[in-house]
Amino acid sequence: MAIADSAAWHATLEAMGNAPGKQRCRDALTPGAGPVCVTGASGFIALHLVKQLLEKGYTVVATVRSTRDARKMQPLMDLQIKFGSDKLRIVGGVDCMKRDTFVPAVDGCVGVFHTASPFHFNSQDPLNDLVLPAEQGTLGCLEACLKVGTVKRVIITSSFAAMFNPGGYPWDYTYSSKDWNKIHILMIKESSQNQSQHTDTDTPKLSLRKLHGTSLLHQIAHLT
Ligand SMILES: NC(=O)c1ccc[n+]([C@@H]2O[C@H](COP(=O)([O-])OP(=O)(O)OC[C@H]3O[C@@H](n4cnc5c(N)ncnc54)[C@H](OP(=O)(O)O)[C@@H]3O)[C@@H](O)[C@H]2O)c1
Repeated sequence: MAIADSAAWHATLEAMGNAPGKQRCRDALTPGAGPVCVTGASGFIALHLVKQLLEKGYTVVATVRSTRDARKMQPLMDLQIKFGSDKLRIVGGVDCMKRDTFVPAVDGCVGVFHTASPFHFNSQDPLNDLVLPAEQGTLGCLEACLKVGTVKRVIITSSFAAMFNPGGYPWDYTYSSKDWNKIHILMIKESSQNQSQHTDTDTPKLSLRKLHGTSLLHQIAHLT
């Protein structure tokens, strides 16, 4: 039987909510609520995010995988000079493939924007080069948020690839929040079975938001 026809598939979709994209946060995060962390801050989206958050008055913890590449670090350093090191702290060594490296960065933060993930089309082995770090990084980030206990909201920049089923629909099909890539669903199910020790009762309140985009930049202004 095809996965899409199975009762388990429909139950999983149901459990995700009818229209998760339409849910709204009840309490907005304000600059006064506490610092926010942006992961992958050497990246395109994260750098815009860090800048906009600082301009709105937030205190930001920006993570990078490595601080060694001066050219990559320059835009962040410029922001640190402009806004001050008390408003922008840069944490190096946060690597998706080393899950516990997220803890010192998110500790004390109330919000986390998780964007760190490889985003390129140069891979011969996309499962290992792209999907694995995306999955490990997201798990590492969420585990860290649960561990430190200060984080109230996590926003993850996902991808349209998480909804796309190549060849599965006509070209003019309108995707909605009911569409999920079948590999994505299976990985989530497998991962949640492996992580079954996290029950509702030992999980602090944490609101989770995922953005799926082929072009996410226009959404940045609405993130906070
Ligand atoms: N741009 C878009 O239109 C778009 C559309 C859909 C989804 N997205 C998603 O949005 C996120 C950011 O996209 P972007 O366009 O800003 O990409 P980007 O400019 O390539 O930035 C990616 C960031 O992730 C970091 N990274 C990669 N692998 C890592 C690892 N193993 N550990 C820690 N950090 C790692 C990179 O750090 P290094 O500098 O160390 O490599 C970089 O800071 C990605 O998750 C992407 O899938 C973007």
